[in-house]
Amino acid sequence: MTHISPFNESGSHLLDGQRRQKIWAIGGGKGGVGKSLVTANLSICLALVGYKVVTIDLDLGGANLHTTLGVPIPEKTLSDYLTKKVKNLNELLTQTPIENLSIISGAQDDVGIANLKQMQKNKILSKLTELDADYILLDLGAGTTFNTLDFFISADQGILVALPEPTSIENTYRFIKSVFHRKLAMAEDLLEIGPMIDQIMNAKISQNATPADLIQRVIEQNPDMGRRLQMEIQKLQPRLIINQVRTQADIDIGFSMKIICKKYFGINLDYAGYLNYDATVWQSVKKRRPLLMEFPNSALVNNFDQIVHKLLKLNN
Ligand SMILES: Nc1ncnc2c1ncn2[C@@H]1O[C@H](COP(=O)(O)OP(=O)(O)OP(=O)(O)O)[C@@H](O)[C@H]1O
Ligand SMILES: [Mg+2]
Repeated sequence: MTHISPFNESGSHLLDGQRRQKIWAIGGGKGGVGKSLVTANLSICLALVGYKVVTIDLDLGGANLHTTLGVPIPEKTLSDYLTKKVKNLNELLTQTPIENLSIISGAQDDVGIANLKQMQKNKILSKLTELDADYILLDLGAGTTFNTLDFFISADQGILVALPEPTSIENTYRFIKSVFHRKLAMAEDLLEIGPMIDQIMNAKISQNATPADLIQRVIEQNPDMGRRLQMEIQKLQPRLIINQVRTQADIDIGFSMKIICKKYFGINLDYAGYLNYDATVWQSVKKRRPLLMEFPNSALVNNFDQIVHKLLKLNN
């Protein structure tokens, strides 16, 4: 069972007077790496501590977060909100079997996250603050569409899930590179150097033009712009979870990725922790019961505890 206390490091009670919801977005370059598992179980950990949690399934292609949380597919979905059948996001909440934890289901038709219009996306993002919640967790689904990237960038914590295997690691770097590019492209302060950003971001690594080189080059040419660029990049601090680890070498991949991210992107990647490969996952999926509730003493639950501890420390 979870051992996290709802107190921050200074000992003050976080539930008192904390009104603004924290948003955690869970993404990753590739499908099937465990994003929904992570979203569901981080949500449960936070709810068990006593936070009010809303988890939103934005994996609109293969929405399955509800199954991971042991609830039938919710009747009302984000499409009802986008088509104005429902006026307030709170009306979409479905209570899960876990106290303090509700879910909002993604759109069921072709209003997929990839197809959300800019305005719809902005509407969702701005209205999230209406939700009666301390924490809002977003299951972003796979891919690097602009919408996915924008939800990831807008979150207080962007959490990447990767498997300890080459394709997943490559996809994770690709995701980070896309986030980096998107973030800079959206920064109005940096419009002036837009062409330079595009040129470097589209270059191959071998051309000695890494995103880290970009920062260096801008600093040399225009120190003021360079400072602003650095500030934007410092705001990007993605978290990384390595899922399905079987060996120490798998665990260590997270540390190497952190070093590579710093060197290549100039980005501080926080290695939030790892999750063991564990047969209890499919057993709980098969039973349609949340892992944390079905196997409270499994090694995985311990992994989740440690990760939530770390994430709470990073963001409170
Ligand atoms: N730590 C683990 N141990 C064992 N199996 C796991 C683990 N993590 C995930 N799995 C398995 O991988 C499958 C995919 O997990 P999940 O649905 O959470 O991934 P996803 O990234 O959300 O996938 P999608 O991109 O399709 O939404 C699960 O059904 C589960 O069986
Ligand atoms: Mg999923």
